[in-house]
Amino acid sequence: MRCEEELLPMNEQPIGVFDSGVGGLTVLKQLALCLPYERLIYLGDTARLPYGTKSRETVLKYSMRNASFLLEKGVKCLVVACNTASSLALEEMKERFAMPVIGVIHPGAKKAAAASRTRKVGVIGTLATVRSRAYETAIECYGADIEVTSVSCPLFVALAEEGWVDDEVTYRVAERYLRPVQGKGIDVLVLGCTHYPLLKPVLSEVMGKEVALVDSAEAAANEVAVSLRAEGLAAAAEGAAAGGAPTICLTDRSLHFLELGEKILERPLGEVEYVDLG
Ligand code: DGL
Repeated sequence: MRCEEELLPMNEQPIGVFDSGVGGLTVLKQLALCLPYERLIYLGDTARLPYGTKSRETVLKYSMRNASFLLEKGVKCLVVACNTASSLALEEMKERFAMPVIGVIHPGAKKAAAASRTRKVGVIGTLATVRSRAYETAIECYGADIEVTSVSCPLFVALAEEGWVDDEVTYRVAERYLRPVQGKGIDVLVLGCTHYPLLKPVLSEVMGKEVALVDSAEAAANEVAVSLRAEGLAAAAEGAAAGGAPTICLTDRSLHFLELGEKILERPLGEVEYVDLG
């Protein structure tokens, strides 16, 4: 793949996307819809999932390794689809790599700030994302008057991976986790973890119709489109990649990934490349 792609002009090189696992496919799907002429390569770090319970040092190390792998594949731009990695490692990646590096926190924060009328926003994410206060910092950039209440919901990742997206157990867990953001007058709940969009039916039932659920996938894809155009890196419409399936790489064999992945993308995953990142 590398040799072939070295011959391509820079704007025809792929966009590299990584996440700790399957959830980042929600971002990949939006990228494919928003940028149909782009080649996409996705790395799911299934061997080292979850990131959300790990320390900043570990998430930073894994993120740098993932980014280097995608760079070796010749990518022209990096999309950090994982909220935890975006919260803890984005700035370092931006400093290290001389290409656009786009995370999911700011696009989601911007969308949430624009959508909130009550100026009270809830954020749910992994332990690491919530502890980093990355969403609070980002939301403040777009609305200094917004009051943010954040809650970590670690079990949601396992429930989504298990496919229990509309299960009684998931309702009970959601009711318990979401208690701190209820009765606070919030009208927007940011789904600050790649897995949470899979639980939307449960989350929206528990939060009620008056609370809008915001996820970063579409907003992040739009930001990638803007950035590629600004940098002169957008693929030509008549490019060879048009309509092509994304390349999927995983660091471990995962049945969950294959099953859920096809549901998220609503298409067969095609051949998956297994890679050893040490
Ligand atoms: N991808 C992670 C995120 O968006 C969730 C799963 C994990 O903990 O690795 O934060």
